[in-house]
Amino acid sequence: MKRVFSGVQPTGNIHLGNYLGALRQFVELQEENECVYCIVDEHAITVPQDPKELKKHILDVAALYLAVGVDPKKSIVFVQSQVSGHAELGWILNCCANTGELFRMTQFKAKSAGKESVGAGLLTYPVLMAADILLYDTDIVPVGNDQKQHIELTRDLAIRVNSKYGETFVVPDGRFLKSGARVMSLDDPTSKMSKSAPNEHSRISLLDEPGKIKKSIMKATTDSEGIIKFDIDNKPGVSNLLSIYNALSGKSIEELEKFYEGQGYGNLKKDLVEVVTEAMAPIQERYKDIRESSELIDILNDGAERANAIAEKTMKRVRERFGLGL
Ligand code: AMP
Ligand code: TRP
Repeated sequence: MKRVFSGVQPTGNIHLGNYLGALRQFVELQEENECVYCIVDEHAITVPQDPKELKKHILDVAALYLAVGVDPKKSIVFVQSQVSGHAELGWILNCCANTGELFRMTQFKAKSAGKESVGAGLLTYPVLMAADILLYDTDIVPVGNDQKQHIELTRDLAIRVNSKYGETFVVPDGRFLKSGARVMSLDDPTSKMSKSAPNEHSRISLLDEPGKIKKSIMKATTDSEGIIKFDIDNKPGVSNLLSIYNALSGKSIEELEKFYEGQGYGNLKKDLVEVVTEAMAPIQERYKDIRESSELIDILNDGAERANAIAEKTMKRVRERFGLGL
């Protein structure tokens, strides 16, 4: 059995990009692998958070994991800060990373652009992500395309440590889906759908009400050509709508292009509203039950205990290799 690890930050509303790029893979993978899914609250504090909101969002994301189909009987689901190995290994790996490679990360460049001062955590965040992954002897990391560079760094760090200190870490592989790996923003289809964009109609959150879903899709930016064709470079808006449609309905892009030949964007959007609303309905129903149940905390505590048992084994090995402690 292969070990799978992934994480989602407990910030804001989980959106269609998170679902199609990451969460949906989590469910698929748990059938044939040993999966560990984490709510990465220590990553969230790389930017300022309201403590009360953060606590709430941790449970929101945990409930969403379960609502989309992650099964705590098959997978380990837990909160990062409940397993101290993440922070500890993060520190040790910080001492193996070079500042140059961290300054080169595109996500750091984007998040720090134009700011006079940014927290050091924002720079070293990919190292904590590497620690998350390496702590569990992970083979496969299902993530969206935006994390490719971070997975590369994780592999580099693992190889670097292994060659300097002897076999210590499993070198993991990223798993990126073709369809849904990069869901773009609805109002600006040249940038990715994100939790933090100011316009709420730029994204569809998994918990959006049908009215909001409709409004966001009907307002989505397209172009003036009026032809429904997949062409990312020249028609990013229409291509994004087609990708979402394809990922949620299973209908191929060619099938959709054929079906909508000669029709306007209005029809495509109207049908997409239905496809998205129908896909979200069962998730939202399960979410409500789970979020309100007292079982959620028990599941997370149990998950942390199981995660910690694996993490401690790795940490023992790491401390030994590095010569730390007595
Ligand atoms: P985050 O919201 O940054 O914690 O991301 C959680 C997961 O969702 C990661 O695997 C990301 O790669 C993935 N993800 C985030 N935004 C998108 C997007 N717009 N399209 C596809 N995947 C995404
Ligand atoms: N950096 C990821 C994101 O922003 C979240 C994350 C943190 C993660 N640690 C991870 C994803 C480990 C996969 C594996 O989306």
